[in-house]
Amino acid sequence: MVILKSDKEIEMMRLAGRLAEKTQDYVAGRLHPGMTTEEVNTLAHDFILRHNAVPAPLNYKGFPKSICTSINHVVVHGIPGPQKIEDGDIIGVDVTVILDGYYGDMCRTYLIGAVPAEARRLVEATERAMYLGIEAAQPGARLGDIGFAIQRYVEELGFSVVRDFVGHGIGRNFHEEPQVKHYGQQGRGMRLRRGMTFTIEPMINQGVWQVRVLEDGWTAVTADGKLAAQFEHTIAITDDGPEILTCADASLANRFKR
Ligand code: MF3
Ligand code: CO
Ligand code: CO
Repeated sequence: MVILKSDKEIEMMRLAGRLAEKTQDYVAGRLHPGMTTEEVNTLAHDFILRHNAVPAPLNYKGFPKSICTSINHVVVHGIPGPQKIEDGDIIGVDVTVILDGYYGDMCRTYLIGAVPAEARRLVEATERAMYLGIEAAQPGARLGDIGFAIQRYVEELGFSVVRDFVGHGIGRNFHEEPQVKHYGQQGRGMRLRRGMTFTIEPMINQGVWQVRVLEDGWTAVTADGKLAAQFEHTIAITDDGPEILTCADASLANRFKR
């Protein structure tokens, strides 16, 4: 069952979403080679608490840290720890906050220092794919239109769409219905309507789409060891089109409305 949100609830989610974005910006300005992912976690954790919010991943289904940090061939759910970020790495930082009971979920992949052109191309394509998915999320369109837009674009470039993880409804819960696949067929799936709130968070691989989960039960890596990237926004479907809730700049947040 999809939980539709009122305008008032969407306003609460805007506040949560903007805090997730502020946390991203705060962390982004402090990332540097030699820093451990544990230090990235601490920066985000403390920032979120200072803003009277809670980091949603901490203790979620036993996840031990406050954010996910996914370096190079790690696709998602990397656990912060003693690993150091190195020059040339790409690192996905996924931040989810709970502010006054509402969730905001946002991921970016950052370039550390001199990143090879091929890796930069993957990261740029992944961000573009996310925005193509958001643009397709118009009221009256269907869930499959989102996945189709993403898949068509990235496969044309020779990259692949991860199948094992999906975007998700979000609100007073971390993960709600519907599931939002980042691949699919035009005109298929649930019809999008005003009041739906969900994430679009494509994970795009340089090589094959298959992934494998490490012994820790969380860290998902590419099956072929090649690079992966991810971007994520939380959006709301309005009568005019999708609004990006994890974006404080109104002209950017509303740029896919008709
Ligand atoms: N933020 C992730 C998402 O986009 C979920 C992380 S769950 C965790 O859905 F437990 F790994 F933190
Ligand atoms: Co998410
Ligand atoms: Co996330």
